[in-house]
Amino acid sequence: MLVIVKEDYDAMSKEAAKIVADRIRRKPNLVLGLATGSTPLGLYKELIRMHREEGLDFSKVVTFNLDEYVGLPPEHDQSYHYFMWENFFKHININPANVHIPQGMFGDLKISPYETDPKVEAYCQWYEEQIKKFGGIDLQILGIGANGHIAFNEPGSSLGSRTRIKTLTEKTRQDNSRFFKSIDEVPKYAITMGIGTIMEAKEVILLANGENKADAVKAAVEGPITAMCPASMLQMHRKAIIILDKKAASKLSAEFIYYG
Ligand code: PGA
Repeated sequence: MLVIVKEDYDAMSKEAAKIVADRIRRKPNLVLGLATGSTPLGLYKELIRMHREEGLDFSKVVTFNLDEYVGLPPEHDQSYHYFMWENFFKHININPANVHIPQGMFGDLKISPYETDPKVEAYCQWYEEQIKKFGGIDLQILGIGANGHIAFNEPGSSLGSRTRIKTLTEKTRQDNSRFFKSIDEVPKYAITMGIGTIMEAKEVILLANGENKADAVKAAVEGPITAMCPASMLQMHRKAIIILDKKAASKLSAEFIYYG
Protein backbone atom coordinates (compact mmCIF):
# COMPACT_ATOMS: atom_id res chain seq x y z
CA MET A 1 0.00 0.00 0.00
CA LEU A 2 1.22 3.45 -0.83
CA VAL A 3 -0.18 5.95 1.68
CA ILE A 4 -0.03 9.58 0.60
CA VAL A 5 -1.04 12.30 3.04
CA LYS A 6 -1.95 15.73 1.70
CA GLU A 7 -2.59 18.95 3.57
CA ASP A 8 -6.34 19.15 2.99
CA TYR A 9 -9.32 17.94 0.95
CA ASP A 10 -8.45 20.09 -2.03
CA ALA A 11 -4.87 18.79 -2.23
CA MET A 12 -6.10 15.19 -1.76
CA SER A 13 -8.57 15.60 -4.64
CA LYS A 14 -5.95 17.14 -6.95
CA GLU A 15 -3.45 14.38 -6.21
CA ALA A 16 -6.04 11.73 -7.13
CA ALA A 17 -7.00 13.64 -10.30
CA LYS A 18 -3.34 13.81 -11.35
CA ILE A 19 -3.08 10.01 -11.16
CA VAL A 20 -6.39 9.41 -12.97
CA ALA A 21 -5.41 11.86 -15.75
CA ASP A 22 -2.01 10.18 -16.10
CA ARG A 23 -3.64 6.76 -16.50
CA ILE A 24 -6.09 8.12 -19.13
CA ARG A 25 -3.26 9.74 -21.09
CA ARG A 26 -1.34 6.45 -21.09
CA LYS A 27 -4.43 4.43 -22.03
CA PRO A 28 -7.22 6.50 -23.66
CA ASN A 29 -9.69 3.59 -23.40
CA LEU A 30 -9.02 3.16 -19.67
CA VAL A 31 -11.62 1.13 -17.78
CA LEU A 32 -12.31 3.34 -14.79
CA GLY A 33 -14.24 2.26 -11.71
CA LEU A 34 -16.11 5.11 -10.05
CA ALA A 35 -17.62 5.86 -6.66
CA THR A 36 -20.32 8.18 -5.33
CA GLY A 37 -20.52 10.02 -2.00
CA SER A 38 -19.11 13.34 -0.87
CA THR A 39 -15.46 12.19 -0.92
CA PRO A 40 -14.87 11.95 -4.70
CA LEU A 41 -16.68 15.23 -5.55
CA GLY A 42 -13.43 17.23 -5.47
CA LEU A 43 -11.75 14.64 -7.71
CA TYR A 44 -14.59 14.92 -10.25
CA LYS A 45 -14.43 18.73 -10.11
CA GLU A 46 -10.70 18.68 -10.87
CA LEU A 47 -11.13 16.15 -13.71
CA ILE A 48 -13.84 18.39 -15.22
CA ARG A 49 -11.41 21.33 -15.02
CA MET A 50 -8.70 19.27 -16.70
CA HIS A 51 -11.14 18.32 -19.45
CA ARG A 52 -12.12 21.95 -20.05
CA GLU A 53 -8.75 23.61 -19.68
CA GLU A 54 -6.25 20.92 -20.61
CA GLY A 55 -8.28 18.85 -23.08
CA LEU A 56 -8.30 15.68 -20.97
CA ASP A 57 -10.19 13.34 -23.29
CA PHE A 58 -12.81 10.94 -21.94
CA SER A 59 -14.26 9.95 -25.32
CA LYS A 60 -12.88 6.41 -25.17
CA VAL A 61 -12.91 5.94 -21.39
CA VAL A 62 -15.21 3.17 -20.11
CA THR A 63 -16.69 3.50 -16.62
CA PHE A 64 -18.18 1.09 -14.11
CA ASN A 65 -19.80 2.40 -10.94
CA LEU A 66 -19.58 0.49 -7.71
CA ASP A 67 -23.18 0.52 -6.58
CA GLU A 68 -26.77 1.75 -6.76
CA TYR A 69 -29.76 1.81 -4.43
CA VAL A 70 -32.50 -0.70 -5.18
CA GLY A 71 -35.89 0.89 -5.82
CA LEU A 72 -34.83 4.39 -6.88
CA PRO A 73 -35.42 5.28 -10.54
CA PRO A 74 -32.40 6.79 -12.35
CA GLU A 75 -34.03 10.25 -12.35
CA HIS A 76 -34.47 10.26 -8.53
CA ASP A 77 -32.17 12.93 -7.13
CA GLN A 78 -30.71 10.48 -4.60
CA SER A 79 -30.01 7.73 -7.10
CA TYR A 80 -26.38 7.17 -7.99
CA HIS A 81 -27.29 7.44 -11.68
CA TYR A 82 -28.44 11.01 -11.05
CA PHE A 83 -25.39 11.76 -8.89
CA MET A 84 -22.93 10.61 -11.56
CA TRP A 85 -24.55 12.51 -14.42
CA GLU A 86 -25.02 15.70 -12.41
CA ASN A 87 -21.61 15.77 -10.78
CA PHE A 88 -19.40 14.33 -13.49
CA PHE A 89 -20.61 12.80 -16.74
CA LYS A 90 -22.63 15.70 -18.12
CA HIS A 91 -19.57 17.98 -17.79
CA ILE A 92 -17.11 15.80 -19.76
CA ASN A 93 -17.05 14.18 -23.21
CA ILE A 94 -17.85 10.68 -22.04
CA ASN A 95 -19.71 8.43 -24.50
CA PRO A 96 -22.97 7.47 -22.69
CA ALA A 97 -22.67 3.98 -24.23
CA ASN A 98 -19.45 3.53 -22.22
CA VAL A 99 -21.08 4.34 -18.85
CA HIS A 100 -22.10 1.44 -16.62
CA ILE A 101 -23.96 1.97 -13.35
CA PRO A 102 -25.74 -0.94 -11.66
CA GLN A 103 -29.46 -0.98 -12.32
CA GLY A 104 -31.62 -0.25 -9.28
CA MET A 105 -35.11 -0.97 -10.62
CA PHE A 106 -36.29 -4.57 -10.63
CA GLY A 107 -40.00 -4.30 -9.83
CA ASP A 108 -41.26 -6.46 -6.97
CA LEU A 109 -38.55 -8.50 -5.34
CA LYS A 110 -38.66 -11.59 -3.25
CA ILE A 111 -35.75 -11.36 -0.87
CA SER A 112 -35.02 -13.74 1.95
CA PRO A 113 -31.76 -14.34 3.82
CA TYR A 114 -31.34 -17.63 1.94
CA GLU A 115 -32.30 -16.74 -1.60
CA THR A 116 -31.81 -13.94 -4.08
CA ASP A 117 -34.49 -13.07 -6.62
CA PRO A 118 -33.41 -14.75 -9.90
CA LYS A 119 -33.72 -11.55 -11.93
CA VAL A 120 -31.35 -9.73 -9.56
CA GLU A 121 -28.94 -12.64 -9.61
CA ALA A 122 -28.94 -12.75 -13.43
CA TYR A 123 -28.41 -8.99 -13.60
CA CYS A 124 -25.47 -9.06 -11.15
CA GLN A 125 -23.83 -11.80 -13.18
CA TRP A 126 -24.35 -9.75 -16.33
CA TYR A 127 -22.66 -6.74 -14.68
CA GLU A 128 -19.63 -8.85 -13.77
CA GLU A 129 -19.50 -10.17 -17.35
CA GLN A 130 -19.54 -6.63 -18.75
CA ILE A 131 -16.51 -5.76 -16.63
CA LYS A 132 -14.72 -8.83 -17.99
CA LYS A 133 -15.78 -8.03 -21.56
CA PHE A 134 -13.87 -4.74 -21.34
CA GLY A 135 -10.80 -6.53 -20.00
CA GLY A 136 -11.38 -5.77 -16.32
CA ILE A 137 -11.16 -2.52 -14.38
CA ASP A 138 -7.82 -0.73 -14.83
CA LEU A 139 -8.26 1.77 -12.01
CA GLN A 140 -10.93 1.72 -9.29
CA ILE A 141 -11.74 4.82 -7.21
CA LEU A 142 -13.03 4.10 -3.69
CA GLY A 143 -14.26 5.98 -0.66
CA ILE A 144 -14.44 4.41 2.79
CA GLY A 145 -17.34 4.42 5.24
CA ALA A 146 -16.77 5.44 8.86
CA ASN A 147 -17.46 1.74 9.58
CA GLY A 148 -14.77 0.61 7.13
CA HIS A 149 -17.13 -0.34 4.31
CA ILE A 150 -16.12 -0.05 0.64
CA ALA A 151 -18.96 0.42 -1.81
CA PHE A 152 -21.94 -1.12 0.04
CA ASN A 153 -19.86 -4.00 1.36
CA GLU A 154 -20.73 -3.51 4.99
CA PRO A 155 -18.73 -5.04 7.87
CA GLY A 156 -19.16 -8.80 7.77
CA SER A 157 -19.29 -8.94 3.96
CA SER A 158 -17.48 -11.89 2.47
CA LEU A 159 -13.97 -10.90 1.44
CA GLY A 160 -14.48 -12.91 -1.77
CA SER A 161 -17.90 -11.44 -2.60
CA ARG A 162 -19.03 -10.55 -6.13
CA THR A 163 -21.66 -8.10 -7.42
CA ARG A 164 -24.88 -8.82 -5.55
CA ILE A 165 -27.77 -7.34 -3.60
CA LYS A 166 -26.95 -6.27 -0.03
CA THR A 167 -29.13 -5.24 2.85
CA LEU A 168 -27.98 -1.86 4.16
CA THR A 169 -27.18 -1.69 7.85
CA GLU A 170 -29.30 0.53 10.06
CA LYS A 171 -26.21 2.72 10.60
CA THR A 172 -25.68 3.27 6.88
CA ARG A 173 -29.38 4.04 6.39
CA GLN A 174 -29.22 6.55 9.24
CA ASP A 175 -26.01 8.12 7.85
CA ASN A 176 -27.65 8.51 4.45
CA SER A 177 -31.03 9.65 5.75
CA ARG A 178 -29.73 13.24 5.77
CA PHE A 179 -30.31 13.25 2.01
CA PHE A 180 -33.91 11.98 2.22
CA LYS A 181 -37.12 13.44 3.68
CA SER A 182 -37.21 10.72 6.33
CA ILE A 183 -35.44 7.46 7.16
CA ASP A 184 -38.45 5.54 5.80
CA GLU A 185 -37.56 6.77 2.33
CA VAL A 186 -33.97 5.47 2.49
CA PRO A 187 -33.77 2.28 0.43
CA LYS A 188 -33.20 -0.95 2.34
CA TYR A 189 -31.15 -2.66 -0.34
CA ALA A 190 -28.40 -1.84 -2.80
CA ILE A 191 -26.68 -3.57 -5.70
CA THR A 192 -22.94 -3.43 -5.09
CA MET A 193 -19.75 -4.79 -6.59
CA GLY A 194 -18.27 -7.29 -4.16
CA ILE A 195 -14.93 -7.12 -2.41
CA GLY A 196 -13.71 -9.85 -4.78
CA THR A 197 -14.79 -7.71 -7.74
CA ILE A 198 -12.95 -4.67 -6.38
CA MET A 199 -9.82 -6.70 -5.64
CA GLU A 200 -9.59 -7.68 -9.32
CA ALA A 201 -9.13 -4.06 -10.40
CA LYS A 202 -5.54 -3.67 -11.59
CA GLU A 203 -5.05 -0.54 -9.50
CA VAL A 204 -7.09 0.99 -6.68
CA ILE A 205 -7.15 4.50 -5.23
CA LEU A 206 -8.92 4.89 -1.89
CA LEU A 207 -9.68 8.45 -0.81
CA ALA A 208 -10.57 9.61 2.70
CA ASN A 209 -10.80 12.97 4.34
CA GLY A 210 -11.95 14.29 7.70
CA GLU A 211 -11.62 13.18 11.30
CA ASN A 212 -14.64 10.89 11.20
CA LYS A 213 -12.74 8.61 8.82
CA ALA A 214 -9.54 8.43 10.94
CA ASP A 215 -10.51 5.23 12.85
CA ALA A 216 -11.64 3.44 9.68
CA VAL A 217 -8.42 4.46 7.89
CA LYS A 218 -6.28 3.19 10.76
CA ALA A 219 -8.16 -0.13 10.81
CA ALA A 220 -7.87 -0.44 7.02
CA VAL A 221 -4.14 0.39 6.81
CA GLU A 222 -2.71 -0.94 10.08
CA GLY A 223 -5.31 -3.33 11.45
CA PRO A 224 -5.68 -7.03 10.77
CA ILE A 225 -7.31 -8.09 7.52
CA THR A 226 -10.86 -8.76 8.58
CA ALA A 227 -14.36 -8.81 7.14
CA MET A 228 -15.25 -6.45 10.01
CA CYS A 229 -13.29 -3.77 8.15
CA PRO A 230 -13.84 -4.53 4.45
CA ALA A 231 -11.30 -1.86 3.39
CA SER A 232 -8.55 -3.81 5.24
CA MET A 233 -8.68 -6.31 2.36
CA LEU A 234 -6.80 -3.72 0.29
CA GLN A 235 -3.69 -4.82 2.20
CA MET A 236 -3.81 -7.83 -0.12
CA HIS A 237 -3.99 -5.69 -3.26
CA ARG A 238 -0.85 -5.40 -5.40
CA LYS A 239 -1.37 -1.78 -6.33
CA ALA A 240 -3.42 0.16 -3.81
CA ILE A 241 -2.85 3.87 -3.29
CA ILE A 242 -4.44 5.46 -0.23
CA ILE A 243 -4.71 9.26 -0.48
CA LEU A 244 -5.70 11.06 2.71
CA ASP A 245 -5.99 14.52 4.13
CA LYS A 246 -4.20 15.14 7.43
CA LYS A 247 -7.33 14.63 9.51
CA ALA A 248 -8.12 11.21 8.06
CA ALA A 249 -4.44 10.26 8.55
CA SER A 250 -4.30 11.57 12.13
CA LYS A 251 -4.48 8.14 13.82
CA LEU A 252 -1.94 6.36 11.64
CA SER A 253 1.28 5.38 13.34
CA ALA A 254 3.04 3.66 10.44
CA GLU A 255 6.32 5.12 9.28
CA PHE A 256 5.87 4.31 5.62
CA ILE A 257 3.56 7.26 5.06
CA TYR A 258 4.65 9.55 2.28
CA TYR A 259 3.86 13.19 2.97
CA GLY A 260 3.48 14.52 -0.54
P1 PGA B 1 -18.73 9.65 1.81
O1 PGA B 1 -19.11 8.10 1.77
O2 PGA B 1 -17.78 9.87 0.67
O3 PGA B 1 -20.04 10.37 1.59
O4 PGA B 1 -18.11 9.90 3.13
C1 PGA B 1 -18.07 7.16 1.63
C2 PGA B 1 -18.62 5.78 1.75
O5 PGA B 1 -19.60 5.57 2.50
O6 PGA B 1 -18.08 4.88 1.11
